[in-house]
Amino acid sequence: MYKEEKRPAFYRNMKYWGKKPHNIWREIISENTKKNDIVLDPFLGSGVSFFESIKIDRIPIGIDINPLTKFLIDTYANEINIEELEYYTNKIIDDIKKIDIYNKNYVIRCTNCNKYTDIYNYKHRKNIIYEVAYKCKECNKTITKEVENEFEDISLKKYDKNLLTPKKRASCVNSISTNILDKLDEDSLSSFWTNRNNILLSLIFNKINDLEKSSIKNYLMLGFLKTVHLTSKMCIPRSPKSKRPLSTSWGRPAYMLPTKQFEQNPIISFYKSIFGRQGVINAYKSLKNHIKLPIETKNSLNELKNKKIDYPNFFLGDSNKILKKIPTGSVDFIITDPPYGNIINYIDLSYIWIMWLELFNSKYSSNYNSEIILNDNNYNSYSEDLFKIWDNCYRVLKNNSKLILTFHSDNTQEWNALKKSIEKTKFKFIGNYLQKNKRSSESNVKAKKGKAISDHYILLEKGR
Ligand SMILES: C[S@@+](CC[C@H](N)C(=O)[O-])C[C@H]1O[C@@H](n2cnc3c(N)ncnc32)[C@H](O)[C@@H]1O
Ligand SMILES: [Zn+2]
Repeated sequence: MYKEEKRPAFYRNMKYWGKKPHNIWREIISENTKKNDIVLDPFLGSGVSFFESIKIDRIPIGIDINPLTKFLIDTYANEINIEELEYYTNKIIDDIKKIDIYNKNYVIRCTNCNKYTDIYNYKHRKNIIYEVAYKCKECNKTITKEVENEFEDISLKKYDKNLLTPKKRASCVNSISTNILDKLDEDSLSSFWTNRNNILLSLIFNKINDLEKSSIKNYLMLGFLKTVHLTSKMCIPRSPKSKRPLSTSWGRPAYMLPTKQFEQNPIISFYKSIFGRQGVINAYKSLKNHIKLPIETKNSLNELKNKKIDYPNFFLGDSNKILKKIPTGSVDFIITDPPYGNIINYIDLSYIWIMWLELFNSKYSSNYNSEIILNDNNYNSYSEDLFKIWDNCYRVLKNNSKLILTFHSDNTQEWNALKKSIEKTKFKFIGNYLQKNKRSSESNVKAKKGKAISDHYILLEKGR
């Protein structure tokens, strides 16, 4: 059993559910491989096994169906000039602050010093704004002010038709209930934001997208993606007792329209996403400390066929398809964390980011139908899908090599489905253990608060 260390900022940067403890995974990889060995993870998620393998000179092959994973790998592979990133962030923000929509909606006279300053957020209850909060840029005071205004959103008619905006329909997203669909203004995923926030988000996005400097574009986009979920109507105000009136978070991994909403200023949020303690700049610095940049990646399946695997590889798509192209007996070790039951609908929830990523670059789209997920308690097909993955994993592994997988569930049927998926393979079961996690990772939302959270590690081996 290992102790979990604090995550470097670049792992904390982007929201991803079920992130695994990086140092523990590194220890496991290290114990089971030697330098230049090939480490495969067919459910890469936020990329833990990928970056940890690189850190200890192993060669990762990562696969995931979520374009967000590809975006993270692409972004973190490059070196950037921090000053340039700072310059362009400030430029984008300054430009937008000159626009009418911004000044009409997010500027207020400070009650303390009477100077103009930016509103950080509005708090709404059933279409009434009951509070505004800001940190005055002139007198530096944090002020929350009770108000009682009918919530007035701007009309989308004023909207610049040349701006790129996502067109994702809400009814195409499985986990949005009909009850919530009925409450939306229109059948659009953008209805989870107010109009004014949609416009401001599009303005930021378009300014990033129009930049020619490609090296920092991805990092700006990363900051933008963090802004996206923090400015939606799905955010709930913290209780006044928390004494943190200026920030909030996406309450729980689900689409929702809470009665009390926290509407955050996208410009302030974008600024914090880049410059803040949890922001992109600190993420980049921590990444540079963690591994050597740039990472030269390949994603050519032909190269794999020729067995010349000497660079980190990432493939966006369905693992079952991609694994088939990896040569038999070419992989030294597999570590992976398959989708757990139906706790988190990864792709479904990721649409709020993917809809922007697809606009940013068409390479960030995928065929989401082959996502492995437990829907409507369909344990048989879930088990069958996982079996196909393990079966492929068995084939690509070298003899006497291991596959270690993690699993977490408090549902017996889910466990049985997993068990069945493994029993059908030729893998030899060599053991399992429980690993305590420091924090209740977001994948374990079902677990009661305060309960020690553990992951199961299951060890399988390919014999001769
Ligand atoms: C439990 S998460 C992995 C989290 C990861 N261990 C981490 O630390 O971030 C499971 C992942 O499987 C991916 N996934 C689901 N079905 C897939 C498929 N058919 N092919 C490839 N990836 C898939 C999901 O997108 C999700 O990222
Ligand atoms: Zn002031």
